[in-house]
Amino acid sequence: MKILIFGKGYIGQRCADAWQEKGHETIVSPVRVTVVHDALNEIKQHKPDVVFNAAGVTGKPNVDWCEDHQIETIEGNTNLPIYLAAACQQTGVYLLHIGSGCVFYDESPHPDKKWRESDHANPRVVYSRSKYAADLVLSTLPNVGIGRIRMPIDWMPSSRNLIVKLANYPSIIDVENSGTVIEDMIEVFLQLMEKRAEGIFHVTNPGSIKHRETMEMYKEYVDPEWSCEWIDNEELVKRGLAKKGRSNNELTSDRLTELGITMRPIKEAMRDTMQKYAQAKKIQVRDGDENRDQCCDGGCGGCTCS
Ligand SMILES: NC(=O)c1ccc[n+]([C@@H]2O[C@H](COP(=O)([O-])OP(=O)(O)OC[C@H]3O[C@@H](n4cnc5c(N)ncnc54)[C@H](OP(=O)(O)O)[C@@H]3O)[C@@H](O)[C@H]2O)c1
Repeated sequence: MKILIFGKGYIGQRCADAWQEKGHETIVSPVRVTVVHDALNEIKQHKPDVVFNAAGVTGKPNVDWCEDHQIETIEGNTNLPIYLAAACQQTGVYLLHIGSGCVFYDESPHPDKKWRESDHANPRVVYSRSKYAADLVLSTLPNVGIGRIRMPIDWMPSSRNLIVKLANYPSIIDVENSGTVIEDMIEVFLQLMEKRAEGIFHVTNPGSIKHRETMEMYKEYVDPEWSCEWIDNEELVKRGLAKKGRSNNELTSDRLTELGITMRPIKEAMRDTMQKYAQAKKIQVRDGDENRDQCCDGGCGGCTCS
């Protein structure tokens, strides 16, 4: 498949490299898209089979940045996907857009408390509202798919990796969440593009995991000496560690199941990923490169959303 990728950040580049290794042709666009024509020109030039949107604004050093930069956030997370969708509709090319599971806060109204793809979300902060706005607009278009992910979990050291983020926080909120193991996500996104799957998909590994369980595995495989202060969710904002409360939730992936696409259960996938991460970390230390992936300044508590 020839895949044109917008967004040369963590996920865009990670997917491009992995898909190329699997024999697909990937082009990571260098173009900054500010109008439909920017995307249209790229599509006409490269003539891809599909377009993948990994561009967006997640905020640096963390998602709180979006609270004070609303227009930039809306431009990147709402307008940009619409420009790409318009260009794809005009050219008849399938678009897979990355959404976020952070559009849901707390428990769902369902008896099992989990959120479905068809549920109306309850986003609270600027970042999640801007992501949900794009979901609402794009989800009725033909030939467009949205893959919502949560808390990327990766064997590759990176400041965007949940394992790295948690390991660097002095204080972590004691919560349980859905998560997306990047290795599995890379495969699922490929299948969604191959099937030209339409509508919203929760690309999260089945089940949920507590940060405590993740860091127990971290101590087992990476650093037995690691420690932190565990705090209640409410403490995050009260103590000034974050501007706004983070989204914590569990999602189901019923629409992937309908398509026969599976992901490994979260705890099994986390253990496998942690073991691989430990190996990758050893290589980094051996090469004297161990500080490369420090997460922001570590002062943002348990800010695990974006
Ligand atoms: N990482 C997470 O925790 C997470 C979780 C759920 C969903 N997501 C979603 O996944 C997507 C990718 O996230 P990521 O972690 O890979 O973020 P990232 O590393 O910040 O990458 C995003 C990329 O998009 C680029 N971009 C922004 N506006 C653009 C525009 N108008 N035209 C072209 N490129 C533009 C950014 O360029 P500049 O840096 O130069 O602005 C950056 O290279 C986002 O939509 C995000 O909402 C991420």
